Amino acid sequence: MTDDSGAPRGLSRRLTQYGDAGFARFLREAFLKASGYTGEATDRPIVGIASTASDFNPCHASAPALIDAIGRGVTMAGGLPFTFPTISLHESFSFPSSMLLRNLMAMDTEEMLHALPVDAVVMIGGCDKTIPAQIMGAVSADVPALIAPVGPMLAGRDAGERLGACTDCRRLWAARRAGEIDDARLRRAHEHLMPTHGTCMVMGTASTMAALAETLGFVLPGGSSIPAVHSERLRFGEQTGRRAVEMAKSGGPPPRSLITRGALENAITILQALGGSANALIHLVAIAGRAGLTLDLEDVDRIGRHTPVLVDLKPVGRGYMEDFHAAGALPALMRQLRSRLDLSAASADGRTIGDVIDAWAPWIDETVIRPIDTPVAPGEALIVLRGSLAPGGAVLKRAAASGALLQHEGPAIVFNGVEDLAARIDAPDLPVTPDSVLILRGAGPIGGPGMPEAGSLPIPSVLARKGVKDVIRISDARMSGTAYGTVIVHVTPEAAVGGPLALVRDGDRIRLDVAARRLDLLVDDAELARRRSELQPAVLPPRGYARLFAEHVLQADRGCDFDFLTGDGAR
Ligand code: FES
Repeated sequence: MTDDSGAPRGLSRRLTQYGDAGFARFLREAFLKASGYTGEATDRPIVGIASTASDFNPCHASAPALIDAIGRGVTMAGGLPFTFPTISLHESFSFPSSMLLRNLMAMDTEEMLHALPVDAVVMIGGCDKTIPAQIMGAVSADVPALIAPVGPMLAGRDAGERLGACTDCRRLWAARRAGEIDDARLRRAHEHLMPTHGTCMVMGTASTMAALAETLGFVLPGGSSIPAVHSERLRFGEQTGRRAVEMAKSGGPPPRSLITRGALENAITILQALGGSANALIHLVAIAGRAGLTLDLEDVDRIGRHTPVLVDLKPVGRGYMEDFHAAGALPALMRQLRSRLDLSAASADGRTIGDVIDAWAPWIDETVIRPIDTPVAPGEALIVLRGSLAPGGAVLKRAAASGALLQHEGPAIVFNGVEDLAARIDAPDLPVTPDSVLILRGAGPIGGPGMPEAGSLPIPSVLARKGVKDVIRISDARMSGTAYGTVIVHVTPEAAVGGPLALVRDGDRIRLDVAARRLDLLVDDAELARRRSELQPAVLPPRGYARLFAEHVLQADRGCDFDFLTGDGAR
């Protein structure tokens, strides 16, 4: 059995190495006979379905139904669907941080695609780290791959207000901390923040990464935004299964061929126009690295300078993912950005992005997906800062920040890690004013470990109760794509490896100058040298995966991948 290129296909692929290929195939088939498969079934091309169903991943609750639909499509098209499990990551069920485990999931995905006899694979993705991990693994394994996102939740309603995860979770929690609402109101809203299963329904990391997966050619056109509970999601699953069989028969396209310079720049353009998650920058850099390409933060800033936010979704705007899908979905946004995209980039259905845009339904709801000359917010969504506090770069989601704080100088208040933050942020004697600059350090890739989403520090109670909604917050951590505020994250190098963040003391002056893209620590060099001489090296975890992570993780500007997993070397 061979594919169109003459390579072994189906059950004959990747035979266990006994030194006797015929026996290996004979034995493999015998085990399948034990499961009730006939020779006719096992002679078909095999489409693996990577299942991330898990009781610990409520965002993926619809995975079993989606797997059924994909399998039906595979069978209808003449393939054999085989489901297998991989690690599944959920943001609220990953201690200490899902980012610590993204690379483990990428390795799991890569190794299973390398070990199993799959001619093509459909991967069930969704919750934040899953789709990036799956693309990283698929690019490294280079097995033809599609992603079937589980889809976003529908928005909820309470007291005449539309609500959704997790922007409104954060807003209401902050309102309770500030004493603006009572426990009863918070409890009521709690019942309606997530009325269906699926991924967070704002333009957070999950929605952003699904859209970028579609942009890169891993999700069938328009498939990234279909709500999890719509029947269209299942029909999309069936179509995905059928397309996977075409790919299994032809042997392509290999995922590495999708990750071109043009496709990556398309992804950054879409990211900026979506007002998407800052986390996506880390993931895109890591994905590029798996294909042997370098994506610099300067590329993000350069593209951002002429790409405004066009999509009116929370946390930057007002709507939810169901609104984006009904407004025309990603191909409609691509049409608004047509002149700024590489139209020759591949779509997941085998056409080019240009062909997809041309054939897509002409109607666009331009209240949700704006034309380029009437954007949701002036200026770019994400900007890159450099300066004496962040020589390797830092990221600000400008579109979700307070305009009044974009040019600011103030005194630092420093927290050493998330435990210190939790212990002191609400202390009544915290010497904080609206001018203060809150610093969280020791929360980077190594220091966190795993760069937790702690970068959007809560507004200290003493300020919140006076009605202060935003202060500048700077960290080597990340922030949730659903969060908002003047939050500068991914400061590189992180404090744990001796970055300047480690040298800041309470009261030091910090200057943010967004116009000049600068973030500076206003302390003279001699004093900084003296402080540097007192630094102690970070203590690494003693064993296991955490030790491997600490020894090999790259900094945020290099995608937090492992140093031994980057590059396009064949195995
Ligand atoms: Fe899963 Fe938000 S927690 S997508």
